[in-house]
Amino acid sequence: MTTPLRREIYSYVAQAAQAAGQLRPDSVVGDFGCAAGDFLFYLHAQAPQARLFGYDLSATAIDQAQSREQARLDEFSPAILFRPGSVLDKALLPAASLDVAFMLGVHPYFDEIESALANLLAWTRSGGYVAVFGLFNPYPIDVRLSYRPVGEANPGESGRGWNLFAKAAVSRYLDAALGPGQHRFTPFIMPYDLPPDPDNPGQSWTIMDGNGRRWLTNGLSLLLNQELLEIWPS
Ligand SMILES: C[S@@+](CC[C@H](N)C(=O)[O-])C[C@H]1O[C@@H](n2cnc3c(N)ncnc32)[C@H](O)[C@@H]1O
Repeated sequence: MTTPLRREIYSYVAQAAQAAGQLRPDSVVGDFGCAAGDFLFYLHAQAPQARLFGYDLSATAIDQAQSREQARLDEFSPAILFRPGSVLDKALLPAASLDVAFMLGVHPYFDEIESALANLLAWTRSGGYVAVFGLFNPYPIDVRLSYRPVGEANPGESGRGWNLFAKAAVSRYLDAALGPGQHRFTPFIMPYDLPPDPDNPGQSWTIMDGNGRRWLTNGLSLLLNQELLEIWPS
């Protein structure tokens, strides 16, 4: 089920891609770390003729996405194709095979972001569009984080998925790869309040700061600075 937060994020990212003129009816679009396909099903409703491809490391998530696609399929629009695969595997796609590449909520699982960015840039044609959404640090500090819920069955296993990359380091990499002026960051601000779920402290909720700015936080006691990174491969 798509949570209200994820729905807002999907709408924010899709609107940005549309505003950038990149979501055309015939666009070839890849979503990396697509999970059970929620974002691509959302996109399909916006651009029914676009050719949508979803990839995820988890075969279980891809099976689920494929079953949903079987139930949705109609004869008037191309099928959404879901395949297992890692965004870190350069051989996953031929170079310049996509018009648009999305990666939402995935890079905080990685210890370095450059390999994923390099692949997204290689797979997207010159003049296309890459959108990466998730946590970024506005301060010039990279953060590696692991967590473990109290009482977890396997006490040796650390949770991942909340690493923070400094925007300054990402910009330095992209400026070196593409030249200046080929990317931009835009902060995502949740447009309405989300209450905490006492039974699920891992789920994000909102708090308001003294300036009336709404922030996302969660039971890891983190301030979640989510941003959209848009890149124009040259
Ligand atoms: C937090 S979920 C985000 C799902 C979806 N993109 C969204 O925004 O709703 C992160 C997803 O990334 C996937 N993932 C993690 N590492 C990956 C990799 N190297 N390549 C592709 N998918 C990966 C996980 O299996 C999981 O489905």
